[in-house]
Amino acid sequence: MSRTIPALVLGGSGYVAGELLRLLAAHPVFRVAGALSDSRPGEPVAGSFPHLAGAYPAECFCSLEQAQQLVERERELAIFSAAPHGASAALIDALLARSEGASGSRSGSTSSSTSGSKSSSSPGAGPDSAAAPGVRVVDISADFRFASAAAYESVYHHAHGAPARLPSFTCAVPEHLAKSPTPHVAHPGCFATATLLAAVPLLALRLVEPELFVAAITGSTGSGRKPTDGTHHPLRHADLYTYNALAHRHTPEIVTCALAASGVEARFAFVPHSGPFARGIHATVQARLARPCDSAQLRSALREYYAGAAFVQVRDSAPRVKEVAASNYAQLSAVSDGRSVAVMCVLDNLTKGAAGGAVQWMNRLYGLAETTGLTAPAAGWT
Ligand SMILES: NC(=O)c1ccc[n+]([C@@H]2O[C@H](COP(=O)([O-])OP(=O)(O)OC[C@H]3O[C@@H](n4cnc5c(N)ncnc54)[C@H](OP(=O)(O)O)[C@@H]3O)[C@@H](O)[C@H]2O)c1
Repeated sequence: MSRTIPALVLGGSGYVAGELLRLLAAHPVFRVAGALSDSRPGEPVAGSFPHLAGAYPAECFCSLEQAQQLVERERELAIFSAAPHGASAALIDALLARSEGASGSRSGSTSSSTSGSKSSSSPGAGPDSAAAPGVRVVDISADFRFASAAAYESVYHHAHGAPARLPSFTCAVPEHLAKSPTPHVAHPGCFATATLLAAVPLLALRLVEPELFVAAITGSTGSGRKPTDGTHHPLRHADLYTYNALAHRHTPEIVTCALAASGVEARFAFVPHSGPFARGIHATVQARLARPCDSAQLRSALREYYAGAAFVQVRDSAPRVKEVAASNYAQLSAVSDGRSVAVMCVLDNLTKGAAGGAVQWMNRLYGLAETTGLTAPAAGWT
């Protein structure tokens, strides 16, 4: 009989949760056992995501209580969190604590963790997968991207929701870390994935000076379901503008992941842009060359660096967002003028930059081929 692993999606009616539900509907191993909605428990999934009606004709969002029952029931459960930062950590902590409690009673022993609250115990003494060997979490929010609560709090300006859990998460782009040393993983995010895919080979191969300039344009789904003054369609449509230039909160996450992946402490001058399209990110990373390298040599270095990476394609010509939209693929290209380099990266913010990257990590955490359920090509026209 073929293997099936139940999956629980947090952040139910959000855009990333919708993309997770879309990908999981076609996944041969993960089966959606619950999609937790804070605001719409009991409402049909297809009411929030009409494009998924064929895959989820009768399924409804579950409540927190139903999600807790699910984690208590299942020995093996893949938990994907697409909840907002600030809420995700406490929610994951509460669910893992219920799972550990149930696992402890199943084995007749007392659980090592009784924590379901935000500030249960000190960092470093955190619970791990020992109490719940078959439960794995991939968090797509920012909550587990830093190694310490202090680092998180200095960027996000509120208390971390589950500091004791930080040691059981690793944050990395899957192409930059072969295997997670921890039971759970934090997705680095969409801007970070695009920037890191372009920047890490340059740094790791010592091709550039460690000062990088990044201009990245995201589509409107990057801002989530709820429109605001800065993200609403009438404002974004047919327009292009920067926001939080040189001060975006994802910059420290990019610096940290780049250091872990390349061994180089680099400076990133990051200028995000709001683009007039729904899906996708186009990032251009520029830096001064550290040694002579022409465009063909650069592209060949990128190809070699990503030789084993199924989802990274290096092109000779300029990559375009439409060629990766709605897929888990990222495309790169590079040019050199002999003094400077520009590496362009395109990916889909909801797929490779969020839900697809999360499924890629979850595949690995369960020992599946990382490409499982993710090889559908881009839509081509969106
Ligand atoms: N959009 C992207 O391109 C992208 C890329 C990478 C990472 N991310 C991250 O992925 C997460 C989801 O992003 P998104 O764009 O899908 O946002 P979104 O559309 O705003 O969805 C977030 C959903 O989380 C649920 N939620 C809201 N408040 C909550 C709370 N206090 N506790 C639990 N759930 C709550 C809501 O759904 P219910 O009321 O139905 O629960 C909401 O629709 C965020 O952490 C974001 O930073 C997003």
